[in-house]
Amino acid sequence: MTEALSPAQSIAAGYAFTSTSLELGSVSVDGQVDPAAAVRIPLAMMNRHGLVAGATGTGKTKTLQLLAEQLSANGVPVVMADIKGDLSGLSRPGSSNDKIVERSQQTGDDWQPTSYPVEFVSLGSTGIGVPIRATITSFGPILLSKVLGLNATQESTLGLIFHWADKKGLPLLDLKDLRSVIAFLTSDEGKEELKNIGGVSRQTAGVILRALTNLEADGGDTFFGEPEIEPADLIRLAPDGRGIVTLFELGAQSARPVLFSTFLMWILADLFQYLPEVGDLDKPKLVFIFDESHVLFDDASKAFVDQVEQTVKLIRSKGVGVFFCSQLPTDIPNEVLSQLGARIQHALRAFTPDDQKALKKTVKTYPVSEVYKLEQALTSLGTGEAVVTVLSEKGAPTPVAWTVVRAPRSSMEAIGDEAITAATKASPLYAKYGQTIDRESAYEKLAANTLSPGEAADAPAPAPIPVPAPAPVPAPAPAPSAPKPAPEEPGILTEVLTSKPMQSFLRSAASAAGREFSRAIFGTGRRRKR
Ligand SMILES: Nc1ncnc2c1ncn2[C@@H]1O[C@H](COP(=O)(O)OP(=O)(O)OP(=O)(O)O)[C@@H](O)[C@H]1O
Ligand SMILES: [Mg+2]
Repeated sequence: MTEALSPAQSIAAGYAFTSTSLELGSVSVDGQVDPAAAVRIPLAMMNRHGLVAGATGTGKTKTLQLLAEQLSANGVPVVMADIKGDLSGLSRPGSSNDKIVERSQQTGDDWQPTSYPVEFVSLGSTGIGVPIRATITSFGPILLSKVLGLNATQESTLGLIFHWADKKGLPLLDLKDLRSVIAFLTSDEGKEELKNIGGVSRQTAGVILRALTNLEADGGDTFFGEPEIEPADLIRLAPDGRGIVTLFELGAQSARPVLFSTFLMWILADLFQYLPEVGDLDKPKLVFIFDESHVLFDDASKAFVDQVEQTVKLIRSKGVGVFFCSQLPTDIPNEVLSQLGARIQHALRAFTPDDQKALKKTVKTYPVSEVYKLEQALTSLGTGEAVVTVLSEKGAPTPVAWTVVRAPRSSMEAIGDEAITAATKASPLYAKYGQTIDRESAYEKLAANTLSPGEAADAPAPAPIPVPAPAPVPAPAPAPSAPKPAPEEPGILTEVLTSKPMQSFLRSAASAAGREFSRAIFGTGRRRKR
């Protein structure tokens, strides 16, 4: 046929991929939706990351639900935060109604109610999902600083303290391990060690100690410890071959969104360390979705943003896609934004001068459109509609498409705490992670040998000493590489470390596990199997 393509069809021509693709919805032009003009994302390009943005109530979460469903159906596991509890419906088939029927017709969707394999997890042991924990040493100083709200000087101090503990072979498993290490370093017995670290003031250490105490008082202590989540447990397939969607239930942690989102960042960094390089695959190994990601970047340090940028840049070649979700695209730092291949922008508001500015900036990030006036389009989108551009199979940006998004096939309602608790108890992960293990960590042994029981952990923060703040230390300076003391001033700590029982404990701990310690991105570390 020689008939000219309609504007909707010529846009859709840019989405006519030959490889397996996720079906996002259909093109709308001048208020007319063309069910045959499909807007899609090549599955193979899901490791090129993306952004889902829009004002409140515009359809962001439903879009994430739709993406998760199709990833799962294609055998790709998904990890995502369920901030408002409304994604739990993924585990139940949806029910049809007039709106769903209308949307299915508009989007050429053969809609069938479908449930998906879901695993419910929570951070720490006080939630309703399977408890997920990290050890302090794995979590690393940069992310912990973000959680504690430390400034750059305090962040580098914490880095030095971690480094010191690493060098001394002192595993920091839970918050009280770190607290007692700092308490030791700021005590009279520890002050020689503190001096040796260099660049650490007692005052700064005291500030960190107080921040740790506050975190503990807020219940943050149940996040840190053992058993630590194994990355492989987040990359699983159901027996039918579909990808398991791991939902992080926010639950009681809603009071500490920074902790929640930073923890998710740790999981991503940990996956980065765990996964091998694979280059470009037909489909990603995992897609990781950060909802409410503005929280991640609010007041973030330069070091933190740099690390997020690095992680996002590099994790692509390990087959992991990362999707950020936020109200405003300007919530995401430019360095990170420029790494995101797919854009699904729901309606933006333009009430305030700040809104207007964000709108103008957003328009600039899109390819030029011959069909839409973007500024106008972005403020007139209906619920469950978005302005979309993605990367084609060849990696080129697709034409901008005003898209009516398909309806999720699973339930759009929360399933309730009781149902989540029941699912949690039935999960094989619950048997593995359900109970906290309070293994005696090296420093606890140490404390038992040097200080009276409990003293280290409960030592009050030292009074501020009126000394000028130290200059920020750019990177952890190398600490003495061996725990061997200078002969003339052994210090209690090194005496204990070099004592026979301690030596043999450290040796057996190291060799029994056959692990080596590494810190890569974010200074996160994991004692890895060789
Ligand atoms: N793709 C869709 N299919 C069907 N209904 C949708 C779709 N997108 C949005 N809706 C409707 O709009 C409502 C709001 O959508 P959603 O919860 O996704 O908004 P949101 O942008 O995540 O809001 P918030 O910022 O408050 O979290 C949904 O409850 C649903 O009724
Ligand atoms: Mg939402």
